[in-house]
Amino acid sequence: MERKKIILDCDPGHDDAVAILLAGGSPALELLGITVVAGNQTLENTQRNARQVVQWLGLQVPVFAGCGQPMVREKMTAGDIHGKTGLDGPAFPPLVCPLEQEHAVAFLVRTLLASEGDITVVTTGPMTNLAMALRLEPRIAEKIQRIVLMGGSCGSGNVSPAAEFNILADPEAAHVCFTAGRPITMVGLDVTRKALCYPAVVERMGRVGNEASRLFVELMGHFCRTQKEVFGWEGGPLHDPVTIAWLLDPTVLTTRPMNVRIDIGGGQSYGRTNCDGFDYLRLPHNADVAVEIDVEKFWDIIEAGLRRYGA
Ligand code: BDR
Ligand code: CA
Repeated sequence: MERKKIILDCDPGHDDAVAILLAGGSPALELLGITVVAGNQTLENTQRNARQVVQWLGLQVPVFAGCGQPMVREKMTAGDIHGKTGLDGPAFPPLVCPLEQEHAVAFLVRTLLASEGDITVVTTGPMTNLAMALRLEPRIAEKIQRIVLMGGSCGSGNVSPAAEFNILADPEAAHVCFTAGRPITMVGLDVTRKALCYPAVVERMGRVGNEASRLFVELMGHFCRTQKEVFGWEGGPLHDPVTIAWLLDPTVLTTRPMNVRIDIGGGQSYGRTNCDGFDYLRLPHNADVAVEIDVEKFWDIIEAGLRRYGA
């Protein structure tokens, strides 16, 4: 089986950690590198968290630190959900997994330029690294097979009435990516808010009984508690791994092509993804937007992903 090449750009983050777990363990995917950005926490925290997760799972994947600041706006983080470290909950052992010396943006440019146009870039954090890479070396655009992002919403947001966190944390970067002319799959809150990790799901994943499942259970302990405190959900929405689940089995999502524009106007809807599902504007479709999710199938994919790891 030919493995699908991906780069995972993330800001771990509890749900990012599960995305790493799912991508890193899958024989269907070749995870070329993990590039890290500031988002859920500062870059210092998120790059360390990515390495903790890689080390816990025993993955052989290089980790690159990227941008610590959004392109234009001031930095925002999500400590209310992900805690002081960005990955509160599990007790991680002393860190030995190295951080690559190369900057994440340089890695993206180098790897994409040298590729045959067969790399999918998955972003599960603010899109700063990819946008900076596109600005630094515009020739990479034609080399990106597809951008698959967790971000945005056709409906309401989760950090303002209008905006979802990953987009509001760097709207200008999202604008650069959405106007790059490449195929995009937008996995937004419309579907990820249905992937609610209820206690029964945590129990089910815990029964897998390996190191990966132990990490999952420990991560969800913190994540589900803060999601309940902040949003009142009985289970935390496991946003980021939906991107990887879709790569592994596209039938897990229903997508619709539409025009999506990012509000970079700075007003009360700053960071909103304006999704023209009814084609009011007759503008070219630049994204396949996820509109439905098969939740049962999603949890089956997560469980199968956990089972890929040894005891
Ligand atoms: C997104 O924001 C972050 O807090 C999560 O990791 C996810 O990527 C959900 O809005
Ligand atoms: Ca994230």
